Amino acid sequence: MNTNNLFDLSNDVAVVIGGTGELGGHMAEALGSAGAKIAVLGRNAERGNARAEKIISAGGDAKFFAADGLKKESLEAANDAVTQWAGTPTVLVNAAGGNHPDATIPPGGDICGLPTEAWQSVFDLNLVGGALLPSQVFAPAMIKSGVGSIINIASMSGIIPLSRVVAYSAAKAAVINFTLWLAREWATTGVRVNAISPGFFPAEQNRKLLFNEDGTYTERGGQIIGHTPMARFGKPEELAGAVIWLASRNASSFVTGQNIAVDGGFASVTI
Ligand SMILES: NC(=O)c1ccc[n+]([C@@H]2O[C@H](COP(=O)([O-])OP(=O)(O)OC[C@H]3O[C@@H](n4cnc5c(N)ncnc54)[C@H](OP(=O)(O)O)[C@@H]3O)[C@@H](O)[C@H]2O)c1
Repeated sequence: MNTNNLFDLSNDVAVVIGGTGELGGHMAEALGSAGAKIAVLGRNAERGNARAEKIISAGGDAKFFAADGLKKESLEAANDAVTQWAGTPTVLVNAAGGNHPDATIPPGGDICGLPTEAWQSVFDLNLVGGALLPSQVFAPAMIKSGVGSIINIASMSGIIPLSRVVAYSAAKAAVINFTLWLAREWATTGVRVNAISPGFFPAEQNRKLLFNEDGTYTERGGQIIGHTPMARFGKPEELAGAVIWLASRNASSFVTGQNIAVDGGFASVTI
């Protein structure tokens, strides 16, 4: 067996939805550094173009395509444009997602007052736009060609629920379950479906939750570190190994239906 090209993605075209964001952007860079052509998808053109430029300056090939993950026709248009640019995508990273402030139970609040609309929007973003619709749009060509790796970005909170962020935890648990369902459904087609569950990685959307303005941990940030065996937050570049491995048809050819936690040990302990 030749192991020299285990992590070589130079025959791959990777679509990273949410490549405009913190974690998706770093995963796009990682896949680009392994040789894949990268289609950075999202709504924010400024951030998407900047990420594509960064990949190109590092010697890769990338392009930003505007797409709204919650609109099937927008994803279909992006699929056509990406295919025209680089050929049939072989890797799909579903990194669009996040929480909604109204879906977080405030201190002293309870689940009974949680607005249904906020709950629904978190499920829409993470499960529908963040997994279902992109899979429906990008997988058929992968199935036709017999090559594909779909990587859903779930969360450690989908494995063990986090206090207060009830909708987000439940939606990410659904993403993990959907990953298993799809993996089995498409197992004989050549399309593998896996998930990565990051622990805590400071990003724009959660920085205020984790850090005070003076850089010290908030109470919640401190609790998280106290529960993380490695006693630190993750760095986005620490997702590179997992995403390249799962994307690579050589390195993970017999791996499907897995959820890989990259969380400093958070989900492996209780107290
Ligand atoms: N940071 C963490 O600690 C952590 C931990 C576990 C899991 N995660 C998950 O990792 C993923 C990335 O999170 P992040 O921390 O990097 O946050 P982020 O920087 O806020 O990224 C979120 C991404 O979602 C995209 N997005 C939101 N709505 C969209 C829509 N309708 N259509 C297309 N794209 C949309 C945003 O792109 P546009 O604004 O350009 O549309 C953005 O690129 C999310 O699924 C998140 O739940 C993060």
